[in-house]
Amino acid sequence: MPPSLPVRLRARLSRATPPREEFVARHVAGRSFADVGCMWEVHGGIAFAAEAAGAGEVSGMDLMGETPEYQAEYQRRGSKLRFVQGDLHDELALARLGVHDVVWCSGVLYHAPHPLLTLERLRSVTGQTLLLATETLPERPLARNVCVFAPKPGSHPTHTEPFDPARGYVNWYWGITPSALRTMLAATGFTVTEEHRTPFHTTVVARKN
Ligand SMILES: C[S@@+](CC[C@H](N)C(=O)[O-])C[C@H]1O[C@@H](n2cnc3c(N)ncnc32)[C@H](O)[C@@H]1O
Repeated sequence: MPPSLPVRLRARLSRATPPREEFVARHVAGRSFADVGCMWEVHGGIAFAAEAAGAGEVSGMDLMGETPEYQAEYQRRGSKLRFVQGDLHDELALARLGVHDVVWCSGVLYHAPHPLLTLERLRSVTGQTLLLATETLPERPLARNVCVFAPKPGSHPTHTEPFDPARGYVNWYWGITPSALRTMLAATGFTVTEEHRTPFHTTVVARKN
């Protein structure tokens, strides 16, 4: 059965633009690449796409361990991808990941309780360019740089579960507006050089200053 209209509408409103594999492929040829948060439902797919697009050393990091889908694809491709399991806020785990020219981090920032710290940690492993994709909330009238703490389910089309501190990173800690995202990136030492928005999703190219 095809997905219902509300499901299709939600997917459309929060869809990433442009398609992620193509977007990443544009930035990686001849450069080292890491996907931070590479596993849940994507099974290393973006990192494999970067490898296929000619990236040099390719790594993935996630709190989750390798999924069977990841392992099967790794074998099928004869991939050289290096996977590091760990928390991106843990400096020892980041040291194991190491610095990469291009870092892709998608679907992580709003799950982090301290997003400025998260951006600082991402900066520490970014050699040149951070490609950051995140769910965002629409701008608020007459106010810039708005972030909503523990946004209610329904405030974003794909956000359905109430805030529960016991569930850690599963929570949506923050509903971030695109202007706040830009300002946070500036505050943590990045310059945004490209931005793509759909109503509830933002993707940026951010150069490390
Ligand atoms: C919402 S999923 C996004 C998956 C994929 N990047 C995407 O955009 O479709 C968030 C992913 O980041 C991982 N993650 C969340 N917080 C993390 C952290 N602090 N350190 C490392 N990985 C984290 C989760 O385990 C999960 O695989």
